[in-house]
Amino acid sequence: RSLGNGKHARSQSPLKFFAEAKKSINDVFKDIAEYVTESQNYLSALPENCKCENAKSVEEFGNMIQGIIEVLTRDHMKVVFFGRTSNGKSTTINAMLRNKIMPSGIGHTTHCFIQVEGCESSEGFLLTEDSDQQKSISDIKQLASALSKVKLKENSLIRILWPKQKCKFLREDVVFLDSPGIDVTPDLDDWIDKHCLDADVFVLVANAESTLMQTEKNFFHKVSSRLSKPNIFILQNRWDISVGEDDPEEVEQVKEQHYQRNVEFLADQLKVVDRQEAKNRIFFVSAKETLISRLHEDNKTPTPHGSLQRNYQERAFAFANFEQAFEVCISKSAVRTKFEQHSQRGRNITSSLRSVMDETHKKSQQQGDKLQEVKSEKESELDFLEKQTLVLTTEMKDKIKAMVEEVERKVSYAMNM
Ligand code: GTP
Ligand code: MG
Repeated sequence: RSLGNGKHARSQSPLKFFAEAKKSINDVFKDIAEYVTESQNYLSALPENCKCENAKSVEEFGNMIQGIIEVLTRDHMKVVFFGRTSNGKSTTINAMLRNKIMPSGIGHTTHCFIQVEGCESSEGFLLTEDSDQQKSISDIKQLASALSKVKLKENSLIRILWPKQKCKFLREDVVFLDSPGIDVTPDLDDWIDKHCLDADVFVLVANAESTLMQTEKNFFHKVSSRLSKPNIFILQNRWDISVGEDDPEEVEQVKEQHYQRNVEFLADQLKVVDRQEAKNRIFFVSAKETLISRLHEDNKTPTPHGSLQRNYQERAFAFANFEQAFEVCISKSAVRTKFEQHSQRGRNITSSLRSVMDETHKKSQQQGDKLQEVKSEKESELDFLEKQTLVLTTEMKDKIKAMVEEVERKVSYAMNM
């Protein structure tokens, strides 16, 4: 069906790769569902003596396929942001959303986990874990802020449903997760279990004014012991501060120092990427400047004097480059982790269906042989329907075989797009 245009769509945005694969896999499962129904109808019309024992399981296959289709529609790409307090995690998410949605500020701000996901409606709203009631976006500050009196538990989750039309990432099924600073909680294992096991990409928001801290490193050691080779990006944030330094050569040296230590961390210590690839995972940015300039660009208003530092463009490019690399990485990873399981299950179901039909065919062939024996003796008494059964089962068997092959071809195409 729509498998052919994957390449074209990918040149628009790497994120489309996920949507395309999702659609393809969904189409494949709809086809399988049709084949299952067809086989089911066929089997129920068959005389009892031609049915094999596990003919009943075909009904179960139908339910399994419906279950997969349901999960599939909820599948998304998830990115989580970690780092020490005040490094700029919330500001980074806001810059990507091109909107001030996450509360941000000096001191310890974000007190619990906040997830932003797309919704179809034109107004955003909030959901908390304790109720189904939609809350106003303006409650976020009170609910999520460390300064607030009505505090939620640290590992609790607030979901922000934000209109898809307002952000390209949300439109393409990316879900953002903001976290409290990793230096303010002792319960990191709990966090990982609850919020990280289904993440496709981790963004470590570091502070370029200092250096990677042990708490940050420990956290990612824990993550990589639970997930095999997590995808990690490091944002050296607050790089605008370096503009104030007198000696440009020294700034270059600091940059080199960050590069070295971050590459060492990703490649030698965590071993999640090789040294060459590690360099492509590190970006020197200013989330604050990027957010300010994007807000003014969208509002078509000039940025206030002094809000963007010298050489701002360089940091803005770095931010955009990060987003580009992130898009490629997250869509590939999500297709692999989310859809591979589905397609594996799809393959199992189609091959089980095939063996049911094979057995049915064998059984009716045996019946057919019996019929042949009888045929020579009492030709006229042969039940016309029974003769037809043999012809039909052979046809059905060929059809099922072709179907299984087609499904396997489509699944592997969708997986390798
Ligand atoms: P917590 O929620 O407390 O863990 O902090 P956070 O990591 O979410 O940081 P947040 O985004 O709230 O930013 C903290 C402060 O740093 C805010 O006042 C931001 O405006 C400021 N800030 C964020 N990014 C930058 C940046 O790139 N440069 C500068 N100069 N300030 C920044
Ligand atoms: Mg925050």
